[in-house]
Amino acid sequence: MSEKRTAPTVVLGVTGCIAAYKACELARECMRRGMRVKVVMTENATRFVGATTFRALTREPVAVGMWDEAAAPVQHVSLAEEADVLVIAPATANVIAKLACGRADDLLTTTALATEATLVLAPAMNVHMWRDEATQANLEALRARGAIVVPPESGELACGEVGEGRLAEVGDIADAVEAEARRSRDLEGSRIVVTAGPTLEPIDAVRHIGNRSSGKTGFRIAEEAARRGAAVTLVTGPTHLPDPFGVVTVRVTTALEMHAAVIEAAEDVHAVIATAAVSDFRPAAPQTGKVKKDAFPSAIALERNPDILAELGEAKGRRVLVGFAAETADVVAHAREKLAAKHLDLVVANDVSEPGLGFGADSNRVTLVTADGAEELPVMGKRALARVLLDRISPLLLPRG
Ligand code: CTP
Repeated sequence: MSEKRTAPTVVLGVTGCIAAYKACELARECMRRGMRVKVVMTENATRFVGATTFRALTREPVAVGMWDEAAAPVQHVSLAEEADVLVIAPATANVIAKLACGRADDLLTTTALATEATLVLAPAMNVHMWRDEATQANLEALRARGAIVVPPESGELACGEVGEGRLAEVGDIADAVEAEARRSRDLEGSRIVVTAGPTLEPIDAVRHIGNRSSGKTGFRIAEEAARRGAAVTLVTGPTHLPDPFGVVTVRVTTALEMHAAVIEAAEDVHAVIATAAVSDFRPAAPQTGKVKKDAFPSAIALERNPDILAELGEAKGRRVLVGFAAETADVVAHAREKLAAKHLDLVVANDVSEPGLGFGADSNRVTLVTADGAEELPVMGKRALARVLLDRISPLLLPRG
């Protein structure tokens, strides 16, 4: 990961819209709040505000074209790496559509695709364009991928109509940018272990028992924690997901392997977040070859696997421990029992009986249960859940060393 400067860097994308002049105020407001601002304009934006204005305001070069003489040879990559936050204000319906489908046909959209920084979007457009199903679907897709949307306000629009579509107040956009800038570094100096996926316990060479888990939640948490500056080790059972960027990923198969890897990795960490669906049992006498079906036993003797999280709880020290509970009934009550029994700081209680949520899905509805209470979260994407969960854990991690 690239060296970050002391002041957080905000890359401000400006697109072609009558509200582009308000991006000047936003640049100033972000600077007033201690952020460094670098502006990227689309060609259309330059029809509304001149690059010189932004250059004078920010005292930084302003990027417009991919092929500008003054631009670094791969400027989209350098801007993408520098950014702690990428805010696009105003964001037109067109740029939102391009971002939603991953198009990269100018410097701004290429930077957006190349960056790991959180994307903050402040849309501004005509009310009918705003209400159009395509625009709403595009925004929903971007939100699900972790973008923060500062919704437009209702009022008189440049086109003369009245309705939603007016760029949000500059102060509100700056608040969102500042919150993301803070988040982009809040885990620096912390070491975190995340467990994910199922464990598979062999019956013979081709059969196994195991729990259902896609691993998505744990992978998202690991990725988000690394993005926010933590040194992350992800210990995962078999999944189809690629290694998250910037994370040390240890792949295991069985609960015993996961146990050994986690105990080693968690020795000197600030937090362990256990999302893995560890199989509680393993066949007591797995066969090395394949057992032919006619010879298959009618019953398989099982043995208990170690409870990894409970063992970490026994020697908790100052580590923050977070467990996940997949329940189909009395969700909060069961989570409370786990919190106490395993000496946890927080349990993410998940009602897996809800159709379309949880296992394999991209969204969850969870309740965060601590000793102080239960916080019910709305249905949200797994990336958004990772963000909220780390927001809650971050203050518990101090002091770090
Ligand atoms: N866990 C673990 N090692 C195990 C089993 C579970 O680390 N052998 C962790 C999981 O990663 C999860 C939490 O403990 O964070 C789940 O707790 P658990 O009591 O196992 O939940 P359930 O399997 O739902 O338990 P029960 O069937 O008793 O409700």
